[in-house]
Amino acid sequence: MSRVTKAVIPAAGLGTRFLPATKAQPKEMLPLVDKPAIQYVVEEAVRAGIDDILIISGRGKRSLEDHFDRNVELEHFLAERGKDEALAEVRSIAELAEIHFVRQGEPLGLGHAVSIARKHVGDNPFVVMLGDDIMDERSTVLTDMIRVHDERDAAVIAVSEVSSDEISNYGSIDPEIISDQLVRLRGIVEKPSANDAPSNLAAMGRYVFTPEIFDALDRVSPGVGGEIQLTDGIALLLADHDVFGWVFSHGRFDIGNKQDYLRATVELAIEREDLGPEFRAFLIDLVDKRLR
Ligand code: UTP
Repeated sequence: MSRVTKAVIPAAGLGTRFLPATKAQPKEMLPLVDKPAIQYVVEEAVRAGIDDILIISGRGKRSLEDHFDRNVELEHFLAERGKDEALAEVRSIAELAEIHFVRQGEPLGLGHAVSIARKHVGDNPFVVMLGDDIMDERSTVLTDMIRVHDERDAAVIAVSEVSSDEISNYGSIDPEIISDQLVRLRGIVEKPSANDAPSNLAAMGRYVFTPEIFDALDRVSPGVGGEIQLTDGIALLLADHDVFGWVFSHGRFDIGNKQDYLRATVELAIEREDLGPEFRAFLIDLVDKRLR
């Protein structure tokens, strides 16, 4: 049994890439088909054996708390009208896991958001999952990363190959190849130019950390964009700890980015048993008549 039972989901960012939708609502609450993004993230955590989740929330993010809370009025309404399926669905959200919230007073960066989890996490290994990164339901990335952590007692970050044009949007790692899917980090740089990037392997929003990351984050000063970067904390951690990268290639969407959001919506919709067949037919027709 793994010791990794806690997840931290930073969801306090301003979501400026998705304005105006994110002016008055959190991007983590943007729906993909009929579920807000953050519910996919919580369900992924639960599938990987996590039962305690800390969401880092912030100003204007109340709907995140409401979503994972009971809504007794709505439950009464659905019960009275015999809408049993909807009732069960609504209730089950509040029972997914033990979900806690803490606020990041100011969005000072992802590294700062993670450092706020220190007290809750204590002396345990834990997972960090970005609240705007969605994984395909069939993805085993998080489970695989937890296994690598358990075997090696070290931090593990998810990485994927991206194009040279895209690497400047990510943390780029300097990898020492260990096996097909496993690398050891020799370095990591946040948002490098294509020329300066140590490789095209980019950090992808899923991390398993040991508590040492908190001391490293305490030593980080503001970096790219004036933010306390998680990447810079990992770079400091590397000085005296092993950090591994788990390489994967499919099934991840950064829904904080409009293109990826559109792709995720379509891919998730065509997989759905209830909506998929009709939606696929619509897409085929659309391609035939308008996109060829
Ligand atoms: P992003 O950099 O994608 O989020 O951070 P952002 O800053 O909200 O987005 P843009 O770039 O302005 O569009 C990844 C995750 O980390 C959280 C975000 O909410 C997102 O889920 N985050 C980021 C925090 O919790 N606090 C921060 O200070 C920054």
